[in-house]
Amino acid sequence: MQTIAFYNLKGGVGKTSTAVNIAWHAARWKHRTLLWDLDPQGAASFYLGVDDGDGYKAGNLIKGKQPIGRLKRETRWSNLDAIPADLSMRNADIKLIENGGAKNRLKQLIAPLGESYELVILDCPPTLSPMAESIFAAVDYLFVPVIPTHLSVRAFQQVLDWLDSKNYKNLTVVPFFNMVDRHRDLHVEMLVKRPKAMKGGLKTWIPYSTHVEQMGDHRAPVGEFAPYTPSAQAFRAMWFEIVGKLKL
Ligand SMILES: Nc1ncnc2c1ncn2[C@@H]1O[C@H](COP(=O)(O)OP(=O)(O)O)[C@@H](O)[C@H]1O
Ligand SMILES: [Mg+2]
Repeated sequence: MQTIAFYNLKGGVGKTSTAVNIAWHAARWKHRTLLWDLDPQGAASFYLGVDDGDGYKAGNLIKGKQPIGRLKRETRWSNLDAIPADLSMRNADIKLIENGGAKNRLKQLIAPLGESYELVILDCPPTLSPMAESIFAAVDYLFVPVIPTHLSVRAFQQVLDWLDSKNYKNLTVVPFFNMVDRHRDLHVEMLVKRPKAMKGGLKTWIPYSTHVEQMGDHRAPVGEFAPYTPSAQAFRAMWFEIVGKLKL
């Protein structure tokens, strides 16, 4: 099992939309995939149609014999399950992490998922809280959407500096550009001459696209309702680039 996260300290940069599209591709390629919605706002749960509060009410994870598996919900796509935000957030163990509990607790919670899943994708809240630290300790790859502006790149550099000071050995940080508008000179410039912080990032970038915005209307990944559009193609290319890094 591999665990990856979509993370950025900034909100509204495309963590959730990319996590959902990449999870959908993984499942289409028959990888048993779980998306865990760690953001209390529950946008990923909404897109995947698992925000209706049905199913198991989370008990106390610490007591459970099959801990985290009890929280999962099937989505309407085969091979793709999700842990909705409301269930995981109500959970005692997650609260423990949010309040500064042991840094490795999230990793321990995820470990048993290896019996059922090849890929676990975490959709993260925009924070550098203890929750974020436990995410960094739990994942193999941290994918970071960055908008091609100086301020966004600078904010990402700050995250990199912070991570450097903490020394997470397990972690590979992989940024990528999102919301690219090729009518803007600065965006084109950044694509061509990548800022230092973006070196080692994904080659694939996601264009600014109304289809990504429309995910909320369709409650589905772009590839499902607009498969031949540039953003759908970009998510597809991004999936291939990501899977090339993973050991699935
Ligand atoms: N490539 C894109 N083109 C246009 N809109 C986008 C794109 N990526 C994200 N958005 C929109 O920006 C908003 C924030 O995206 P989201 O994925 O929820 O970000 P985050 O999870 O980082 O807060 C949403 O309304 C989403 O539809
Ligand atoms: Mg989000």
